[in-house]
Amino acid sequence: MTTTLRLLNPAGISWPIIGGVFATIIAGLTTGIYAEALLADPGAATRWAVPILTYARDFTAALALGGFLIAATVYSPTMLERPRKKVTYDSPEWARIMRFSRTAAVLWPIVESALLIVTYSQVGGVELTSPALGPGLWQFMTAIELGQIMTWSIILTILVSIVAVIVSTLGGAAWGAALSAVAMVPIALTGHASGAASHTLAVSSMYIHLLAMSAWAGGLIAFLMTASRQRRLTSYVQRYSTIAGWAVGLTVYSGFLASLIRFNSIGELVTTSYGRLLLAKILATGVLALAGLMHRRRTIAVIETTPRPFTRIAVGEGILMAGIIGIAAALGNSAPPVPQDPVPDPSPTFLLSQNPVPPYPETISYLTQWRLEPILALVAVLGIVQYVRWVARLRRRGDAWSSPRALSWVLGMIVFFWITNGGPTVYGAVLFSAHMFMHMMLAMVIPILMVLGAPVSLMARAVPARTDGSRGGREILLAVAHSRYGAFWAHPIIAAMNFAGSLILFYFTGLFAVSLTTHVGHLLMVAHFTLAGYMFANALIGIDPGPKRPPYALRLVLLFATMAFHAFFGIAVISSTSVLANEFFGWLGLPWGVDALADQEVGGAVTWGIGEFPTVALAIAVAIAWSMSEDKQAKQIDRRADRDDDAELKAYNEMLAARARGGK
Ligand code: HEM
Repeated sequence: MTTTLRLLNPAGISWPIIGGVFATIIAGLTTGIYAEALLADPGAATRWAVPILTYARDFTAALALGGFLIAATVYSPTMLERPRKKVTYDSPEWARIMRFSRTAAVLWPIVESALLIVTYSQVGGVELTSPALGPGLWQFMTAIELGQIMTWSIILTILVSIVAVIVSTLGGAAWGAALSAVAMVPIALTGHASGAASHTLAVSSMYIHLLAMSAWAGGLIAFLMTASRQRRLTSYVQRYSTIAGWAVGLTVYSGFLASLIRFNSIGELVTTSYGRLLLAKILATGVLALAGLMHRRRTIAVIETTPRPFTRIAVGEGILMAGIIGIAAALGNSAPPVPQDPVPDPSPTFLLSQNPVPPYPETISYLTQWRLEPILALVAVLGIVQYVRWVARLRRRGDAWSSPRALSWVLGMIVFFWITNGGPTVYGAVLFSAHMFMHMMLAMVIPILMVLGAPVSLMARAVPARTDGSRGGREILLAVAHSRYGAFWAHPIIAAMNFAGSLILFYFTGLFAVSLTTHVGHLLMVAHFTLAGYMFANALIGIDPGPKRPPYALRLVLLFATMAFHAFFGIAVISSTSVLANEFFGWLGLPWGVDALADQEVGGAVTWGIGEFPTVALAIAVAIAWSMSEDKQAKQIDRRADRDDDAELKAYNEMLAARARGGK
């Protein structure tokens, strides 16, 4: 293995670490979080440890996710310039980045465990040296929601560290990044987000924030610590710069939303110590964005010959980012102007669904009531932005892309935005009928519009393929579509079984109630039913690469069988004498005098009713595709007959004549 010089001395990592701890201390002193508590003071050690360990946790998490992201999407693992099919894993930066990510991943559960102990000491008012700490800690981990979530965080980060130790390939690095992203969910669920009145906004904005800042800050520090001086520096930095560009936008978007629920007025940004800290974060983010611009305009162009301008600024950025994470850790432990305490005297609806009672559901309310879900709103908006950018790129280079397909995709994303942020979500959280409307639109209508948009084909044409053995979004998506795992779920019969079967699994088990009472459950439900619907529609009418599609006749059989199943499900719900998820719908106590069973009947009718229209649309689409393929085949046969003077027919007639003559 050839060694090449590092871009930076590894000891350089100590700067951001020191910078972050320093920022946590200074920031915490400005909001007074180290001061002795009036009641049940846990002792100085705990008071200082909680914010500093919060910083250490956020920083380590960022390095783990950022490191795996750089490995999975920026670096090439091979020394070969243009590797053929199989890549070798011999590039020095590859070995370094996997070592870096592994180290961060192994440190993460250790830091999480220390944070759990001091957090219990803080909320329980028990000194770290107290003999009562042990038994109380176990109680906290098993019976108190915050303790349970932090315990899950430790379990998930242990899983990340185990995977980190095992994996060594591009695919493995992608799994490392994906699992790190999963392990960040509990972090988003704790802190100020957990008790907040607008739980959805608080949790989802924090989750996007953590992912974006980890890709940005963790990615930069991982890159600086592992890149080689000479090798492919320009293309690597350009790839990181693309990630950083998206991360800036997402950090500001999520930071803004997270701020909305913590302030009564913009003036508090100046009049409160919490506000001033956040202002410092915002200004520092502005400086970072400017530095990014300077790299794009100046330093990247000369990086192979004179890397110093780039490294100088980038090291400064790394320290500033760690500083911001430090400020954020102090912020996360300081009281914001709007208290994030549990809602006083909550209604049964709020206790069960974590959402306030919406106004009486008039038909128009489905268009006027909105509850922003930051993640799903982002999926819809980015889905449109990226699709339109790719179409524009094709058009700019003179390639055509079907406008009806583009319209179908954009319409699909607009409907997805409305269904997941508008009236159907607001009322779907408390009414079974509205929930089924939301479900059927997610599983049946939106996927058809998305599949007709052929997003994978568009991406494969618009995004240039990588040639150095590394993987970008294009390579990863195609790798997933062509993987055994992807092929299994995309297989028409599996897609049909998943599409229909998950109805039973979801509504006749506790999963339904979990999706109604937890935000994570709700998001997983939206993701599952949209993807299941997409896989099914893609198997029937899609043109994107992936599943081996069955003959048209079999597609129609699959379609009608699945729809018959849907109809039976609808009828079963209509005729049921017991309320599904009764421990939820039976206890909501909505002020509108809703009869849960009658509403369930409406829900059953909606399932049946809405189910039919897209079925017919799919059947028509399959029939049209069938006749078009027949036509195409006929034309191909005609063209061949014209080319070879009908050789096939002649051979066939010859064979018949021979048979008639009694020969073979
Ligand atoms: C426009 C810029 C930004 C805004 C408006 C913003 C806003 C916020 C808000 C309101 C919170 C919640 C604090 C709390 O729990 O009370 C937060 C948390 C956080 N922010 Fe930012 N932020 C911004 C940029 C950044 C950047 C650039 C980074 C990192 C490089 C960052 C890292 C974090 C982290 C790690 C947390 C979680 C802290 C914890 O563990 O509780 N933020 N941010």
